[in-house]
Amino acid sequence: MNPQPPAAKKIEEAAALLRQGGLVAMPTETVYGLAGDALNPTSLAKIFEVKQRPSFDPLICHAASTAMAEDLVSAFPEPARLLAQRFWPGPLTLVLPKKRRVPDLATSGLPHVAVRVPAHRWAHQLLEAFDGPLAAPSANMFGRISPTTAEAVRQELGEQVDLILDGGPCTIGLESTVVGFSETGAPRVLRTGGIGVEEIEGVLGEVEVATASSSRPAAPGQLESHYAPRKPLHLLESDESLPPEPNIALLYLGKVSFAETLAAARCLSPTRELREAAANLFRMLRELDEHPDVKTIYARPVPNIGLGRAINDRLKRAAS
Ligand code: TXA
Ligand code: MG
Repeated sequence: MNPQPPAAKKIEEAAALLRQGGLVAMPTETVYGLAGDALNPTSLAKIFEVKQRPSFDPLICHAASTAMAEDLVSAFPEPARLLAQRFWPGPLTLVLPKKRRVPDLATSGLPHVAVRVPAHRWAHQLLEAFDGPLAAPSANMFGRISPTTAEAVRQELGEQVDLILDGGPCTIGLESTVVGFSETGAPRVLRTGGIGVEEIEGVLGEVEVATASSSRPAAPGQLESHYAPRKPLHLLESDESLPPEPNIALLYLGKVSFAETLAAARCLSPTRELREAAANLFRMLRELDEHPDVKTIYARPVPNIGLGRAINDRLKRAAS
């Protein structure tokens, strides 16, 4: 959803700030990104500093086109090419061998770089105006809930960004699906996200899905505790009922008869549509986190298919 056409002047202003080494909050179809020049180590250092992100956590480099992404990688195996053709521009990130021109800070010293061509019109126009790749992690403080509106970015990072481009609420609302490849080109989903594993398998056949643990993250940066609200969040078993406590909130799918008796409740999708649920997830988590009457948040898992898998992954991380 892009409410107004991006004012060309705003985009130009943002591109100029980026050229000077500044940081810009960039709307994408997944979540808002904190963007800086991917080829400028000083800009990259600033991103880590603002997010207070540990430096072992590599960044995704965004490109305006597949050609721009290709300029960052030294190999593009056939399965990666098939995925790019099918899902770019869109919520897919490919982890591929990097060219030397990609600074080590972007990859945390790893020999691979994560690249993505976003679909959001403003992101695309910004990348075209800047005429180069932009590194952009989600525009939140490290470990916190990813922002899906410009207002959430403002609350999260405020004055620390040079410009926030308001491109409206993110239509997908979950980060991109990250796919890496073995030496032999075998694909591996490193992070579930905006594209369902089934959709990837529709192109490549069965793929491995890495499971994360806090001691050995599947992908660097995939720490178990992540996307965390400040208040305690408990993930219920699918049939578990709520404890009889005051000041609790429930996040759920479908219909719940007792929702009105709780301090607060948020329905991810009354019709149980996972796409709608994904788009609402981070905003509703934020709302419950800020709700004055709520002390503890409970969430019900959603069906573990399609985007549901990524939603459950985020809920699990938010709960740990
Ligand atoms: O949808 C998205 O992907 C958003 C928007 C802004 O594009 N960005 C995002 O970035 O979620 P971030 O930094 O919060 O997550 C990047 C994740 C890392 O945590 C890691 O799991 C994976 O991408 N990643 C990045 N570079 C990698 C690399 N070289 N090898 C393996 N995984 C990598
Ligand atoms: Mg993030």
